[in-house]
Amino acid sequence: MKAVVIRSFGSPDGLEVVDAAAPAPGPGQVLIAVEAIGVGGVDAVIRRGTLAGYGFREGHLLGSEVAGSVTAVGDGVDPMWLGRRVWAFTGLSGGYAEQAVASVGEILALPEGLSGAAAVTLGGSGVAAHFALHRARAAPGEAVLVRGAAGSLGIAAVQLAARAGAGAVAVTTSSAERGARLRELGATHVLDRSGSGGPDAPSGYDVVFDVVGGPQLLDYLDRLNPSGRYVAVGVVGGQPPADFGMRLMTAFRKSLSFATFSSDAVPLADRQAVRAAQFAEAARGDLRTVVHEVLPLTQAARAHRAMDAGEVFGRIVLTP
Ligand SMILES: NC(=O)c1ccc[n+]([C@@H]2O[C@H](COP(=O)([O-])OP(=O)(O)OC[C@H]3O[C@@H](n4cnc5c(N)ncnc54)[C@H](OP(=O)(O)O)[C@@H]3O)[C@@H](O)[C@H]2O)c1
Repeated sequence: MKAVVIRSFGSPDGLEVVDAAAPAPGPGQVLIAVEAIGVGGVDAVIRRGTLAGYGFREGHLLGSEVAGSVTAVGDGVDPMWLGRRVWAFTGLSGGYAEQAVASVGEILALPEGLSGAAAVTLGGSGVAAHFALHRARAAPGEAVLVRGAAGSLGIAAVQLAARAGAGAVAVTTSSAERGARLRELGATHVLDRSGSGGPDAPSGYDVVFDVVGGPQLLDYLDRLNPSGRYVAVGVVGGQPPADFGMRLMTAFRKSLSFATFSSDAVPLADRQAVRAAQFAEAARGDLRTVVHEVLPLTQAARAHRAMDAGEVFGRIVLTP
């Protein structure tokens, strides 16, 4: 089967299309004939080598979420899954391929009316956005800032915060056109990447939902209101400075909180329940998924170039 691996960390040129042996489903796993692959910001972060310290090595087969049909089941898996269309989390590898394996606990049947492309745009992001907002204890009436809102995680967070009754949903994004699209999804204020957004923008936030991280994280810590909560959800802009915690200590009298968030810390049953509900909402049109472009799997490097160039609004989907 065709698959895409990281031949060398760094630029998208380091991605290589290879012929690989098709995986076999082990006990508790299913094999999926892939129809759609989500290209997430996490894939770019792994490809750049930002997470090399977490054990990722060159030769890594990228990809963490796919949709497709179950073609084989491993020992202990109910054969009723055979032939069903599912969304699947493949871990942090194995998705950029014509066939992928996933644990049966990490798959979900697609509801009628939900495309594979929509499922891989929402599947991981919607759940992460839901539980990260919960971790930040976002409450009705509060001012929320979504930093890095133009990706699939931010797009989900904006919609969820708005419909949960946030008093303001501000976003950072790099263009007015993106800002207009985010307003359609529920944003009330549009800031540029540096956080400037004109005189109407809130002067402080109760919750900052940060997909970006990087050196500017410090500036956004300063924007928290007293008793404000910062939740770091991603690092598409790199890691923050090593001593960023001193900024919190300096603002001691504001009683600020800083949390990291990973979906891995949420019990699987809770993730699956929220995902199933969000898939049903997306199939009904109550939750929007934004597919930027659909490209062949063999053009994974092009997809990553577009991400690095900041051209992607929503998510690129690859098809084998
Ligand atoms: N915590 C979890 O459980 C979880 C789950 C899934 C993913 N993640 C993490 O979330 C991140 C990916 O999310 P995503 O796919 O939504 O992100 P994404 O699409 O890669 O990026 C989101 C937006 O951030 C802005 N941006 C990119 N680089 C930037 C920079 N250097 N400085 C400022 N803004 C920048 C861009 O928008 P503009 O150009 O409009 O500014 C971009 O569209 C990864 O770090 C991944 O590890 C976490």
